[in-house]
Amino acid sequence: MSDHAVSDRPNPLARNPLDMIASAHALQVQMCDAMERIADGLPDEVDRRLCAQVASCLQFDLPLHHHDEEEGLFPLLMKRAKPEDGLDQILARLASEHSSDNDFASEIAEALETLGQGGRPANPEMLGYMLRGFFERYRRHVHWENQLVMPLARLRLTREDLDELQATMNENRRQAS
Ligand SMILES: [Fe+2]
Ligand SMILES: [Fe+2]
Repeated sequence: MSDHAVSDRPNPLARNPLDMIASAHALQVQMCDAMERIADGLPDEVDRRLCAQVASCLQFDLPLHHHDEEEGLFPLLMKRAKPEDGLDQILARLASEHSSDNDFASEIAEALETLGQGGRPANPEMLGYMLRGFFERYRRHVHWENQLVMPLARLRLTREDLDELQATMNENRRQAS
């Protein structure tokens, strides 16, 4: 058997980067549920460990995921999309949501870190309002990505695209570490 034949064969053990993105989405849905529990418990009935976990997710995991999508998934998808997919507007909208969500996420993370360390929120009502605005918006964001973007990605991206996506995601993690 030649090397060529081996490399042409799909490796069943190769991880699919789309599965990593899908599992990040599943974790984000859990993060939104956790944010709702925190908002419901403000100001005194909050699980401080949960606050610290959500703060770290907002600060580190979310921006990384947005990089994976904006530098990896979205451009590859644009390259493979067909006009009838109507993707350009959807992806532009999702990318603009990332940038406003990153700003809100870091503001909320700061307040949750204080809570995680045993402090009290400076303004519990404002924090509750920000949490609710964020998780409601972010649930919708993940929903649209799961409904529209991920199925098209699974349909249209080639094996080479998936390798390129994996390389971009690895590089994003290398830069973040
Ligand atoms: Fe996104
Ligand atoms: Fe996403």
